[in-house]
Amino acid sequence: MASLSRIALPIVLFALTACAEEKNSSTEPISTTELHVMDGHSNARPNEAVIEHLDLDVTIDMDAKRISGTATYDIVHTTGNTIIFDTDGLSIDRVTDGSGNELVFSLGDSTLLGRALKVELPDGVQRVSIAYSTGKYAKALQWLDPQQTADKAHPFLFTQGEAILTRSWIPVQDSPGIRFTYSAKVKVPQELMAVMSASNPKERTPDGVYMFQMDQPIPAYLIALSVGDLVFRDLGERSGVYAERSVIERAAWEFEDIPKMLAAAEALYGPYRWDRYDVIVLPPSFPFGGMENPRLTFATPTIIAGDRSLTALIAHELAHSWSGNLVTNATWNDFWLNEGFTVYFEGRISEALYGEEYAGMLEQLGRQDLAQTLEKIAKSKHPEDSKLRLDLDGRDPDDGMTDVAYEKGAAFLRLLEAKVGREKFDAFLRDYFERFAFQSMTTDRFLVHLDEHLLEPNQVELNVEEWVERPGLPANATIPVSDRFNKVDKELARWEGGTPAMELSTKEWSTFEWMHFLRKLPSSMSDARMTELDKAFGFTKSGNAEVLAAWLEQCIKNDHDAAYLRLDEFLNTVGRRKFLMPLYTAMTTTEKGRLMAQSIYRSARPNYHSVSVNSLDELLAWKDNHPPVNF
Ligand code: BES
Ligand code: ZN
Repeated sequence: MASLSRIALPIVLFALTACAEEKNSSTEPISTTELHVMDGHSNARPNEAVIEHLDLDVTIDMDAKRISGTATYDIVHTTGNTIIFDTDGLSIDRVTDGSGNELVFSLGDSTLLGRALKVELPDGVQRVSIAYSTGKYAKALQWLDPQQTADKAHPFLFTQGEAILTRSWIPVQDSPGIRFTYSAKVKVPQELMAVMSASNPKERTPDGVYMFQMDQPIPAYLIALSVGDLVFRDLGERSGVYAERSVIERAAWEFEDIPKMLAAAEALYGPYRWDRYDVIVLPPSFPFGGMENPRLTFATPTIIAGDRSLTALIAHELAHSWSGNLVTNATWNDFWLNEGFTVYFEGRISEALYGEEYAGMLEQLGRQDLAQTLEKIAKSKHPEDSKLRLDLDGRDPDDGMTDVAYEKGAAFLRLLEAKVGREKFDAFLRDYFERFAFQSMTTDRFLVHLDEHLLEPNQVELNVEEWVERPGLPANATIPVSDRFNKVDKELARWEGGTPAMELSTKEWSTFEWMHFLRKLPSSMSDARMTELDKAFGFTKSGNAEVLAAWLEQCIKNDHDAAYLRLDEFLNTVGRRKFLMPLYTAMTTTEKGRLMAQSIYRSARPNYHSVSVNSLDELLAWKDNHPPVNF
C-alpha cells in the first residue's frame, strides 16, 4: 500500500495542484470530487465511486445501547460497478437504490480496518440506502448509565470518530480525504436532547426527534453525536455551551472568553467558515481533552478548573476549525498537518488573549512533553514514529498519533515563522487556509506549496527534509524560554536547599507554574518531604485535574500512599487518556504498584471509552476473558 501510493504521488500531486489553482476563491461552490490519494486506513475506493452527501435517519435506543436506521448516500460514480464503504461491527440489513430496489451487497473479512461493505451499482444508480444497526461493542460509542453522569438522573451517549471509529456507528467511506455534507434525523427518548457536529437545537423537542444539517463538506471522522439531559447557555452571538444541568453554570463561567478567542482566531487567519462555534461539556469518561467536531467541540469536564486556567484547550479545538476541519490531513500519515498547525495556532490565540508569557509557558510545557515522548519512541518498537511524516499503514493509526505530530509539528512552524518573520508567515498561513479550504492536504502537497510560496520567495534555505523525514528534533528548533518558569526553578532549588515549602514564593503562580513545579520535583523524595509539600500546597485535594494528575504521578513514583485513596477515586471517575496513561504507567514499575493498577483497572475499566481501554489493555497486559467493556 505504502509503495503504491508513493508511485502514484507525482500524478496525484499534479492533478491536485491543478485542481487547487481553479478553486482558490472562497465564494465558489465547494467541490468534493477531487482526485483522492490512497488511504491505507480505509477500504473505500473513492476514485471509482465516492459519497457526496449523507442523509442519516436513526433511532437511539438508550436501553438496548443500540443505534439503528438508515444511511442514505448521494454518490458520484466514475468507474467500475461497485461502491465500497467501511463498517466495523455493524449489522447490515438491507441495501437499496434511490427507488427502493434491492442492491446486491457483500461484507469482506474482518481486519484492523473493520469489514468492507461492497455494494453492486447498476448503471445510473446515484443513491444508495443502507439499513443497519450498531453492534454491542461499537468502538465509537460510549453509553453511560445515569450514575456515570454529573446529574446522575439520565443515561448519556457520545461518539468519538477520530481516527477510524465512525465506521463502527455509520457505514461510511471513512477516510479523512473524503468529504461530504450531511443531514440527519435522530430520534431519542423524549426526556433527552441530541446534538451533533451540525446545526443544533437549543432546547428539547416535545417528541424527541431532532433534525440536523451540515452544509459544509466534512470527512467522516468529524461526524459526531451526543445524547443526554443537556441544557444550553449562550456565550455570545455565535457561541454557547451545552452541558448537564449541574455543570452548565460553571461551564459558562469557565468558557466566557470563547467569543474573544473566535475574534482573535479570525483576525489571525481569516473568517470562521462554520457559522456557530459551540462547546459541549461531556461526562468525565470522555477519553480526550477535546475533540474538534465542527460547530460543536466536545470537551472533557476536567478543564473546568474554576479559574479559567485550562481554557487553552478550547483555543486548540477552535483552531482546528481552520487547521484540520477546513484543510484536512489527507491520511493519518499526514496527522501533523492537523495537530502541528493547530498547536501553533493555539499558541497564537493564547498569546493574543493572555500575552506572551502565558503562551511561552504553554510552549515550554509542550516541549517538555515532546522530550519525554521522543525518549519513549526512540526505545520503542517503532522509533520511526518520531518523524513528522508517519507510516502507519498496517497499524491502528491511534498507536502512532503522539506528541510528535503536535509539538514537533508546531516547532517546525515556529522555525518557519522565525525565518521569514511573523508578518510574512501569517500571510502565508492565511492564504493557505483560504486556498485549500474544504480540501485535504498531503505532506507532499504541503511541502511543494511551502517551497513555492514561502521558502523560495524569501530565499530561505532550510533542512526541511530532516524535519519531515527523520526521527528526533533537529538542532535548529527554536528554544522556548520562560522567565516565569525560571522563577519556579529558583524556588524549587531553594526548597531542595532546605527552605521550608511554606516559605516559597508561590503566591502569583498559575496552573502552568504549578505543573512545571510538579514535573521538576526531584526524582526521589521521602514520605516526609511529600507530606510537607502536600501540607503546604494542598495538592491531594486540588480540584485542578492537571495539577492533581501531575501530583498523583509523583505520589506513585515515591510511594506516597496517603494519596492512594484520591488516586483510586480519580482513576475511577476520569477517563481522559492523557491522565490515565502516565498514572498507570508509573504504577507498572513496581510489584506493589502493578497489583494496585490491576485492582483499580478492574473496577474502573467499565467506565472508560474503548479508546482508553485499547491503550490500557496493552499497557497492563489485560487478559481477562470477559468481553470488551461497553459501557
Ligand atoms: N483531535 C484531537 C483529539 C484526537 C487525536 C482524537 C487523535 C483521536 C485521535 C484533539 O484536537 C486534541 O488534540 N486534543 C487534546 C487537547 C489539546 C489541547 C492538545 C487532548 O485531548 O488532550
Ligand atoms: Zn488537536
